[in-house]
Amino acid sequence: MSKSIKLAILGLGTVGTGVINLINDNLDELKRRSGRDIVITEVGTRRQRDDIDATIVQNSDLMATAASDNVDIVIEVIGGTTLAKDVIMHAIKHGKHVVTANKALLAEHGNEIFAFAEAHNVHVAYEAAVAGGIPIIKVMREGLAANKIEWLAGIINGTGNFIMTEMRDKGRPFADVLSEAQALGYAEADPTFDVEGIDAAHKLALLASIAFGIPLQFDKVYCEGITGITLQDVNYAEELGYRIKHLGFAVRRKDNGSGDGQGNNDAAGIELRVHPTLIPQNALLANVNGVKNAVLVNSHPLGQTLYCGDGAGAGATASAVMADVMDLVRVLGSKDSNNESTNGHHVPHLAFIPEQLSDTPILRAEQMITGYYLRVHAHDNPGVLADITRILSEAGINIDAILQKPAHKLGQVPVIILTLPVVESQMNLAIEKIEKLDTITDKVVRIRLDELA
Ligand code: HSE
Repeated sequence: MSKSIKLAILGLGTVGTGVINLINDNLDELKRRSGRDIVITEVGTRRQRDDIDATIVQNSDLMATAASDNVDIVIEVIGGTTLAKDVIMHAIKHGKHVVTANKALLAEHGNEIFAFAEAHNVHVAYEAAVAGGIPIIKVMREGLAANKIEWLAGIINGTGNFIMTEMRDKGRPFADVLSEAQALGYAEADPTFDVEGIDAAHKLALLASIAFGIPLQFDKVYCEGITGITLQDVNYAEELGYRIKHLGFAVRRKDNGSGDGQGNNDAAGIELRVHPTLIPQNALLANVNGVKNAVLVNSHPLGQTLYCGDGAGAGATASAVMADVMDLVRVLGSKDSNNESTNGHHVPHLAFIPEQLSDTPILRAEQMITGYYLRVHAHDNPGVLADITRILSEAGINIDAILQKPAHKLGQVPVIILTLPVVESQMNLAIEKIEKLDTITDKVVRIRLDELA
């Protein structure tokens, strides 16, 4: 067997420890698949650990490990966007290939990091950054390379899906389920990233760039979390045949020429959005539960394909990290026609060659098109429903279903309305008018509804 491949792991939290365990468990398989021995030579950790094999150097100077002569591939699993960025740039500068699970870092600084890696002729691999153990980056960059991607929709945060599933199935309170997700190692260091949709938005930015060949634009992702979702809305949605899921959407929209002159209606561009969404109960994504992630991709000519699996946790994330390591081991071992070692076949970081990235605009929130679930609380007076439906009709909004519950003790009626897709700016205007009616007692609750998924 030719020369060993030497790995450094920076960070020994849930994922770093998972990678060590995976290598210990599956080393024979890894060697038989790659034709190389794979050894961890160094770990970068602030705190010395006595449960680590004594042959592995433990270094509290992460920059030194990132540049060490005793390392071929640097695995960054410390997270965050400051030290992690410094160590990755340092590793690249020293000619190391990098594997990272750091979606926040890549979503925010990926354009710079990938350009730096290209300039230094090394690769930054990031399968573990999106959807945990699902090999979605490889699928999108390689398996679907011949297709034009029209849209993708995904459950791309395991913690959020776990919370929504437990709330629906067991009526458990939000905070209780979140604590369990943290104890199981699913949640981010700052769990607001999970429940406010920021983690999903990081992943969506990466998926969208690969799907459409656009630079990373995390700052343009519309992002709404699940903290405002109540059991009441979960139950009304179920009653109407829908389920609320926290989804990310990347959708290519074509201009159909029916614009409103304000650039809001049916504008051409890309929708990038993360929000709670009603989807039909029989939709595939509606039945992806617990910590599972799933990404549904609609591409031409292939059509719809679905990728599903564990989206968080030590084993799932280590699986994705080591898949990248295996790719890089093959890259490091490849030879050109003169039998000289080369940097090997290189799939571009964002699937498209950098000079070919497009400047297709990302649409503003007011330009997005979705259906809606509205919950309106009104006094139980004659004509209330007529007022609401008149406003919707005047705004050109097509009602798909209405559910009115009997007035409860306060003399208020909750009215639930489902609408067909409408441009968001139109819905904003209609809601503003509904909230001005004397008979309306509260802010209108709105949750997007999407039949795409
Ligand atoms: N906090 C993330 C999640 C971990 O719950 O999906 C995987 O990225």
